[in-house]
Amino acid sequence: MDITVAAVTDPSGVFSLLPAQLDEPRADEVLVRLSSVGICATDLHFATFLPTNAVLGHEGAGVVEAVGAGVTELQPGDPVALAFASCGVCKQCRTASPSYCAQFDALNFAGARADGSSALRIDGQPVYGHFLGQSSFATHAVANVRSVVKLPASADLRSAGPFTCGFMTGAGTIVNILRPGPESAVAVFGAGAVGLSSVMAAAASGAQTVIAVDVSPGRLQTAAEVGATHVLDSREGDVVERIRAIVPDGLDGSVDTTGRADVVKAAVASLHTRGTCAVVGVGPSENVEVEWRTLLNGRTVTGVISGSAVPQVLVPQLLAWQEAGRFPVEKLMAQYAFADINEAAAATRRGDVVKAVLTL
Ligand SMILES: NC(=O)c1ccc[n+]([C@@H]2O[C@H](COP(=O)([O-])OP(=O)(O)OC[C@H]3O[C@@H](n4cnc5c(N)ncnc54)[C@H](O)[C@@H]3O)[C@@H](O)[C@H]2O)c1
Ligand SMILES: [Zn+2]
Ligand SMILES: [Zn+2]
Repeated sequence: MDITVAAVTDPSGVFSLLPAQLDEPRADEVLVRLSSVGICATDLHFATFLPTNAVLGHEGAGVVEAVGAGVTELQPGDPVALAFASCGVCKQCRTASPSYCAQFDALNFAGARADGSSALRIDGQPVYGHFLGQSSFATHAVANVRSVVKLPASADLRSAGPFTCGFMTGAGTIVNILRPGPESAVAVFGAGAVGLSSVMAAAASGAQTVIAVDVSPGRLQTAAEVGATHVLDSREGDVVERIRAIVPDGLDGSVDTTGRADVVKAAVASLHTRGTCAVVGVGPSENVEVEWRTLLNGRTVTGVISGSAVPQVLVPQLLAWQEAGRFPVEKLMAQYAFADINEAAAATRRGDVVKAVLTL
């Protein structure tokens, strides 16, 4: 079918709206007409080095238009959001950890299905698609049924997309990995879409102390509005000392969403002896240095992908939290028309908006 995509047409990360062709869904796939798609830092990172005409976008929400012959759990008209791809048969997939799928990179970042084919063509030529299971900077996307999250009828399709990446990543890191309780103290480094989702989830989980750290006064103000008990501008002095002034024994958990090695180091040094630092951000550093004794004392440093979530479980839970006023992500979102994707991307790069959402 003929569709419109926003393809990467310049290595500086410029998107162009282009006509494209999308194949019919295969037996285990679903065709979705997109209503909205969020922009994530990961899209903008990949936009700088992918081949011309690559189609990104991985926070799509919309309506099922057609299902493949083998799909029984979804039907045309169902409201859905699209999440990352996973194989379904490896050990991690079989034990409900699909974000650590053995085929994760091949299925999500290679620009094609497992067999090397792409459902997307521009000017008759196959192009990089299936990004994080979808390539949803487009009017329509084909996704494997394992990537599809059926949404409740009450879900707002203009804002549900970011639940499958940014919001799920931040919140899942809290509810699946750090699991704070009533006496817990948690710090979140970086108060963007991911970090603020961690802040909200920590507050919703009942953590006693939720510290947000950033370099942007505006983002810290938002953090305070959505559940942080303390906010720290890391440019205003030693962060580890200032966290210890709030929590003398150190933190039970910390989350890094900055992708900066110096910040990860501080996030580990702020922990108490049995605390856990969850590393979520993706940055330019190859290595992180952690002091030997700091680690030896019982601390844990763990990487987390997509909040260690099963999207079909966590996304509906987070939507229910939002409906109950416990996960106010609507405060983070700014809506743009699909045609204004470059304006939305620029505002995201500048940090002017926390979560830009394109509406179709
Ligand atoms: N692991 C995963 O599965 C996963 C999923 C989604 C996104 N990500 C990554 O998570 C990161 C965060 O995503 P986002 O959408 O929230 O991005 P973002 O750019 O909106 O947020 C990053 C925040 O870090 C702050 N920051 C920068 N330097 C800092 C410093 N020295 N100290 C404190 N704060 C600082 C920025 O001001 C910004 O608010 C990105 O690297 C993204 O690629 C990872
Ligand atoms: Zn993302
Ligand atoms: Zn797998």
